[in-house]
Amino acid sequence: MTVIELNGLTKSYRAHQALAGVTLSVGRGEIFGILGPNGAGKTTVVECASGLRRPDGGTLRVLGLDPRERRRELLQRVGVQLQEAALPDALKVGEALRMYASLYDRPADWRALMAEWGLDGKRRTRFGALSGGWKQRLFIALALVGDPEVVFLDELTTGLDPSARRTTWGLIRDMRDRGVTVVLVTHFMDEAEALCDRIAVIDRGRVAHEGTPGELVARSGAGGTLEDAYFALIERNAS
Ligand SMILES: Nc1ncnc2c1ncn2[C@@H]1O[C@H](COP(=O)(O)OP(=O)(O)OP(=O)(O)O)[C@@H](O)[C@H]1O
Ligand SMILES: [Mg+2]
Repeated sequence: MTVIELNGLTKSYRAHQALAGVTLSVGRGEIFGILGPNGAGKTTVVECASGLRRPDGGTLRVLGLDPRERRRELLQRVGVQLQEAALPDALKVGEALRMYASLYDRPADWRALMAEWGLDGKRRTRFGALSGGWKQRLFIALALVGDPEVVFLDELTTGLDPSARRTTWGLIRDMRDRGVTVVLVTHFMDEAEALCDRIAVIDRGRVAHEGTPGELVARSGAGGTLEDAYFALIERNAS
């Protein structure tokens, strides 16, 4: 079953074309990776697909709904962790989770989520007093508090310490195994290789390559790791 279907998606910011026709589909229960250079359009794709930004053209369906028309309904069923998010400094961790949970018709158990992400020791800590990695963990937990069917994670583990990264990978796999569809933007090739069932490499607003990590490695002719393949494919796309 296809959960996300983007077809020829375009988006410009004034004169700058950020998306030049993005076509991709993601199946239910997949961990789908989006890779690509800075400025390639990854965050814009996530924002459009999650209903937070309106594309200029193309068609899109998420859980069978058009985010342009069914935004409210969709926001109940998807979770988003944005690359650049912030909360009021005075808001405490527990308050943030409780408040976000109240926005959903059928929220997850926020206390369980707080424990799962190791945040219970920070429950009374103000957002402004959290380190970068703890903020990141809080944002992941907040993306999951609506018990979403689809979750978009933009730069999931940026800023996390190595053990938190590994824990996070395990939790993401558990989610996938429960049937949640995960779209993951990452700059870490080891993360993409370890976690993703399929990957799209986005370059200058287009999907330049798509496939399983193994297929991308084979297609690149570079052999070795996904990182080797990524560099070979990006260079090929530039020429
Ligand atoms: N709100 C905005 N206003 C103007 N231009 C924007 C805006 N958001 C993004 N852009 C531009 O659109 C292009 C795509 O940006 P986007 O944030 O989607 O890239 P990205 O692939 O997520 O990059 P990164 O890896 O750095 O996060 C970039 O050239 C960026 O400068
Ligand atoms: Mg981005």
